[in-house]
Amino acid sequence: MWNFPFVPPTASKEGEGISLLYWTITLLAVVFGSIVLFGVIYLAVRYRADNNAVDRSNATESDLRVELAWTLIPLVLALVMFGWAAKLYADIYAPREGYYEVFVIGKQWMWHCQHPNGVRENNVLTLPAGRLVKASIISQDVIHAFSIPAFRIKRDAVPGRYNAMYFTPTKPGEYHLFCTEYCGTKHSEMIGKVIVLPEKEFQAWLEKGGQGLATATTGMGGAATGGALTLAQQGEQTFKALGCNACHLNPNSAVKVPDITKTWGSDIPLADGRTVKGDEAYIRESILNPGAKIHAGYQNLMPPYQGQVSEEQLVQLIAYIKSLAGDSSGGN
Ligand code: CUA
Repeated sequence: MWNFPFVPPTASKEGEGISLLYWTITLLAVVFGSIVLFGVIYLAVRYRADNNAVDRSNATESDLRVELAWTLIPLVLALVMFGWAAKLYADIYAPREGYYEVFVIGKQWMWHCQHPNGVRENNVLTLPAGRLVKASIISQDVIHAFSIPAFRIKRDAVPGRYNAMYFTPTKPGEYHLFCTEYCGTKHSEMIGKVIVLPEKEFQAWLEKGGQGLATATTGMGGAATGGALTLAQQGEQTFKALGCNACHLNPNSAVKVPDITKTWGSDIPLADGRTVKGDEAYIRESILNPGAKIHAGYQNLMPPYQGQVSEEQLVQLIAYIKSLAGDSSGGN
């Protein structure tokens, strides 16, 4: 009929639920809006001042049954919509297991994406169909928002903080990728595409180091590189380049340092008596500003690396530290 896209295609499992909820709420709004609109028109015409055909004596002032009906029915409907929406929200933002993780870094004005096996893409994100994906999102400068309308998902890219989002692409194809938070002069150019491949093609693409896919290397400045080293191996290189191994992982170190092979996933006692989880946020903070949370029993001797490591390098270093603890989700 029309070739006018009122709504983007729905290409993720979570998006299907959101689309259904969206159309249900729209339908309810139309139904209740119509009842009010046509009710007002009908009553205004029937009870107009000069209509003598109606009997105005013994007018009913209130009817408890009507009051209860128009209070309880909308209340129940609203609570059902709330519960339904909360479930869909939790599917996307609450931690889930068994995912393929990608790291997304927003910066003025591009999207930089990293895969665990070391493949990197700019303004393009290639994903497998039918698999749960976790996107870990951070910004290198100002607040951006990572949005894929076809998946019905969006999450802010905030400086200094890893935000996660879970979704399952369903249909192979190409979809828009947007920044949906005004972030400066070229905000409107901070766009790209998401390419969803069937699982087998995706694996082949990853193994070829992100090459061999014509669409990924053309247009919008997108190009995939790397793949020779996994993210964790790149992290190891960065670790050595920054000289971290002078103290850490060095049995002959003159400086007493916490054992970073045990950092990931453990409960870390702090000098001030608190306990923190050894997660991405803790590792990131301890690299940039080691004095913020001192491990109990150690002194604040490490220099801060604020301004010396990029967000890409931080993602690599975290993958490396994860791999030291035996967690291979960083691609080792
Ligand atoms: Cu980045 Cu708008």
